[in-house]
Amino acid sequence: MSKVTDINSILKELGIEEINNGVSTGTEWFDTKGAVTSSASPIDGKEIAKVKNATMDDYEMVMKKAQEAFKVWRKVPAPVRGEVVRQIGLALREKKEALGALVTLEMGKIYQEGLGEVQEMIDICDFATGQSRLINGTNLQSERVDHRLSEQYHPLGIVGIVTSYNFPVAVWAWNTALAAIAGDVVVWKPSSKTPLTAIATQRIIVDVLKENNIPEGVFNLVIAKSSVMGDNFLADKRIPLMSVTGSTAVGKRVGGIVGKRLGKTILELGGNNAVIIAPSADIQMAVMSTVFGTVGTAGQRCTSTRRVIIHEDIYDDVRDKFVNAYKNVVAKIGNPLDEDYLVGPLIDGNSVELFKHAVKKVQEEGGKILFGGEVLEGEGYESGNYVVPCIAEAENHFEIVQEETFAPIVYFIKYKGDITNAIEIQNDVPQGLSSACFTLDMREAETFLSYAGSDCGIANVNLGTSGAEIGGAFGGEKDTGGGRESGSDAWKIYMRRQTNTVNYGADLPLAQGIKFDI
Ligand code: UN1
Repeated sequence: MSKVTDINSILKELGIEEINNGVSTGTEWFDTKGAVTSSASPIDGKEIAKVKNATMDDYEMVMKKAQEAFKVWRKVPAPVRGEVVRQIGLALREKKEALGALVTLEMGKIYQEGLGEVQEMIDICDFATGQSRLINGTNLQSERVDHRLSEQYHPLGIVGIVTSYNFPVAVWAWNTALAAIAGDVVVWKPSSKTPLTAIATQRIIVDVLKENNIPEGVFNLVIAKSSVMGDNFLADKRIPLMSVTGSTAVGKRVGGIVGKRLGKTILELGGNNAVIIAPSADIQMAVMSTVFGTVGTAGQRCTSTRRVIIHEDIYDDVRDKFVNAYKNVVAKIGNPLDEDYLVGPLIDGNSVELFKHAVKKVQEEGGKILFGGEVLEGEGYESGNYVVPCIAEAENHFEIVQEETFAPIVYFIKYKGDITNAIEIQNDVPQGLSSACFTLDMREAETFLSYAGSDCGIANVNLGTSGAEIGGAFGGEKDTGGGRESGSDAWKIYMRRQTNTVNYGADLPLAQGIKFDI
């Protein structure tokens, strides 16, 4: 297997310098006077580069440009906007390896997953390009003679995008590709933990914007501290739609502030995703698939598997197979730029603390550690961010099991009787993002997917909870926030719906048959 070694040439290819401007309105970059912050790699804790943050004046300048740009961009025909997104997809294809490597360097997911993240960006660009010719409305039947009733979708305005470190660039692409074809303009505030991937992404699209004469203000990036772009950003009435990925706690705050001004939100918040393994399951397949969900991305996906609900009759067998698989994983924890490894570091020391807390708490509540839970030390692990993924036997009602810990700890829970008992356990958490059931029994599979089945936004049969394709709408219910982004008809939330009635007759009949003769 290979190893990404030439970091300097990757940074150079992506235009990342020692100190980078953190504000752009498309092709222009601004020499801001805000705080200079440093981005360090979780791999070794060393600084990669510095970023100049925005001030309040920069934020205002960007918002004004965005407002002006919207008036121009909304007039551009949607398929022409789609063509720009198609070219962004091509530009991303050219930089897939470099950007994938930077995702790995700055965020810590393995290189294969870094590449996957960029592929997800490319996929949504392709999807949005097609969708740009399919933004359709509805023709309905009017109850009045010689009247036509229809609905059409119009651009909404400025879309605020707040992304998390774990998918530092893909989630920007999900939102931006759809917002752009919808005729909206975007203002992106990336995670303060991963500003460089955001800068690199913005740099990748610059040539496309230049070649297509896209006005400044359509694709905006603002790297700012929350003192400059925090609650004020959420409260900004110029932004009709806020798309935010983060924890449930963050989402509740966002929902409160944006809701207070009756703005729209797309909230992608915490998950507490479970896999059910039924007696009829192909156990080998269930284990292999679930291990990707539990340890992949070092447990730092919203869709990572947090609970495995196993039928008591097969529990011991499944448990032993998992423990064996985890034993193989231990040798594969290391530098994510080296393709020999499958599990990289956690993002930072704070995440390691949360992992350690969960390991301790589950035991205090009566759970038992079956595997792992240690923080790795020694050569290659100097950053202190590498942990041994943990399996703990637990009960669903434990406080710690009810919470999302954004790290590789999974809880094993037994169920008895039929699948409905497993489904009840799986739904008995505050969150509702992703779920999966391994079974070869058609009745079980369909019950799991039915109205009485999983209450999550995503429900899979015979594959794990993470790694969704962009073609479907992505998001979840309950404490996950109810937002949907990415595929299917998620584009609709980026637009405003207008119901039109046209009277092409010579009379004035009122709806509901009301008589009003003057
Ligand atoms: C996230 O973790 O915020 O389904 C997004 C998945 C990925 C996206 C995860 N396609 O795991």
